[in-house]
Amino acid sequence: MGANVSSPKVVNISDLRLLAKSRLPQMVFDYIDSGADREQTLSQNCSAYNEIFFRPRCAVATPSCDLSISVINQDFKLPFILAPVGSSRMFYPKGEVVAAREAGIAGTGYALSTLSGCRLEEVKEATNCPAWYQLYLLGGKDVALQTIQRAKSAGFSAIVVTIDTPISGLRERDVRNGTKELLSRNPLKMFPYLSQMLIKPCWLTQWLGDGGLMSFPNVELENGPMGYTEIGPALEESVVTWEDLNWIREAWGGKIIVKGVHIGDDARKAIDLGVDAIVVSNHGARQLDSVAPTIRALPEIVEAANGQIDVLLDGGIRRGSDVVKALCLGAKGVLIGRAYAYGLAAAGGPGVARSIEILKTDILRTMKLLGCDSVQKLDKSFISIPSNWI
Ligand code: GLV
Repeated sequence: MGANVSSPKVVNISDLRLLAKSRLPQMVFDYIDSGADREQTLSQNCSAYNEIFFRPRCAVATPSCDLSISVINQDFKLPFILAPVGSSRMFYPKGEVVAAREAGIAGTGYALSTLSGCRLEEVKEATNCPAWYQLYLLGGKDVALQTIQRAKSAGFSAIVVTIDTPISGLRERDVRNGTKELLSRNPLKMFPYLSQMLIKPCWLTQWLGDGGLMSFPNVELENGPMGYTEIGPALEESVVTWEDLNWIREAWGGKIIVKGVHIGDDARKAIDLGVDAIVVSNHGARQLDSVAPTIRALPEIVEAANGQIDVLLDGGIRRGSDVVKALCLGAKGVLIGRAYAYGLAAAGGPGVARSIEILKTDILRTMKLLGCDSVQKLDKSFISIPSNWI
């Protein structure tokens, strides 16, 4: 039960965002929607795309357009992959499974967050397309090792190591909404904040029907799966450093993608350590505020990577034209987070499918208007960027 996402009034991702807002309690909506501190990077991740202008080639017929990409030698029918989004099960019942299934139906990839409410095996089973596992070392290396082995047996085809989370960013809206208290399992702590859940009975019924209070079944501690309130301290105790990457590589033995690269120097470190790809990411503006929007950081990192490694980007993508601009600047592909999370929260599977369809048709239209028949042919000649961007 969700919103009618096939209504002609649902034209873009902002429309899905509004539907998500009306279905969800404030604290769940803000968990998806908010960023760190004064949310400067949150808004600039999106608005920086406005500084890039297209230079279309007109009077060119492009009867068919190839949108497929290959990243770390894995094939995707679309140039965007679903990013790891924590706690998706709070947005919609079995949220991670639902999103992975829709990614697979569309022929693209899904990256599962360590902070998933669903078991990783169940998520992988939902898709035949590549699925990646995003790793935090929560609970320490022994706990991570078990998860890595489970991810390997389940058939995940890459580990995504997030490197920008030595401590959780301050998301002020979460503090005000009592997110931690509401997920604390402590009735006294929950009580002052409960009304926002009670006024959304449809969401509440579905959430309780799906098991209610959140825990993370892929972080198996001695006394059971990690709970929501344990994440903050656990993140601080399990900072991922460059030294840990060697350990992760040995434990995993497969493809490794490092997510959270802001500067060329870190791109070079990742290359020196032999990782397979990097994601230019500021964690959807949820960690350090006032960092550069990712599209602004991309040129420096592409230059540093010098073609030695696949460069991906996430952050701020709300339109297909944003995806095209990132590819023009040298990204091999992008990851979308909120753009599909709003759809998931609005209507489950059909909502994710609608998000994917909106972006796909946007990209196709943009490609035709640009006079380019393959995303692999996109380059800087199709855009102009401010002179101080390089
Ligand atoms: C988790 O990684 C989050 O950003 O909430």
